[in-house]
Amino acid sequence: MRLMARSIVAALASLAGAAAVAEEARITFPQNYATEFKNYLSLDRVQNADQIIRLFANSAASEAGAAGKELPDGSVLVGEVYAAQKDGDGKVIVSDLGRRVRSKLVAIAVMEKRQGWGEKYPTQLRNGDWDFAIFSPAGKRLDKDLDACRSCHAPLATRQHVFSLEHIGK
Ligand code: HEC
Repeated sequence: MRLMARSIVAALASLAGAAAVAEEARITFPQNYATEFKNYLSLDRVQNADQIIRLFANSAASEAGAAGKELPDGSVLVGEVYAAQKDGDGKVIVSDLGRRVRSKLVAIAVMEKRQGWGEKYPTQLRNGDWDFAIFSPAGKRLDKDLDACRSCHAPLATRQHVFSLEHIGK
C-alpha cells in the first residue's frame, strides 16, 4: 500500500512536471507570412544584444494598426529572429550605419490573438487574448517554455502587449 502511494506520488509529480512545459499547440505556423504579411519593421533587438529582428503583421493587424484601431481577433504578428554577425573575438560587428549585420535566421516568434485564448492565464502571464509560439526557421514548433514570452509581454497592458504597436500598418 505504502509502495503504491509512493508510486502514485511519483507519477503525479512527473505529470505536473510535464504540464509545466507541455504547451497547447494552438498557434499553427503562418506558412506564407514572408509573402502575404507586411514587413513593418526591422531592427537590432532592444533586449538582446546579439540579435536582429524583422517584424511582419497579417492584413487584419496591419489594417487595424493603420487605422489606429485595436488589433482584432485573428491578428498574427511574426518576428524573424536573426543572429548578428560577430568578429573573430566574438564581438558583435557594427556597420558604418551603427547597426548590427544579419547572420543566420535562428527562430520565428509568433503572437496570435483569438477570442478566449487568454482566459486560462493568471494576470502576470496574461496578454489579453494573445498567445505565443516559437518555431525553427523550417517551421517546426520548438519545445520551449512560453511563459518567458508571456511574462515579458504581459506588463504592456496599455499597449495591447505589443512592443512595436506604433509601427504596425505603417
Ligand atoms: C525579455 C523580454 C521578452 C521576451 C522574454 C520575449 N519578448 Fe517578444 N518582444 C520583446 C521586445 C522588446 C520586442 C520588440 C522587438 C525586439 O526588440 O525584439 C518583442 C517583439 C515581439 C514580437 C513582435 C510584436 C511586438 O510585441 O512588438 C513578437 C511576435 C514576439 N516578441 C514574440 C515573442 C515570443 C514568441 C517570445 C517567447 C519565445 C517572446 N516574444 C519573448 C521582448 C520580449
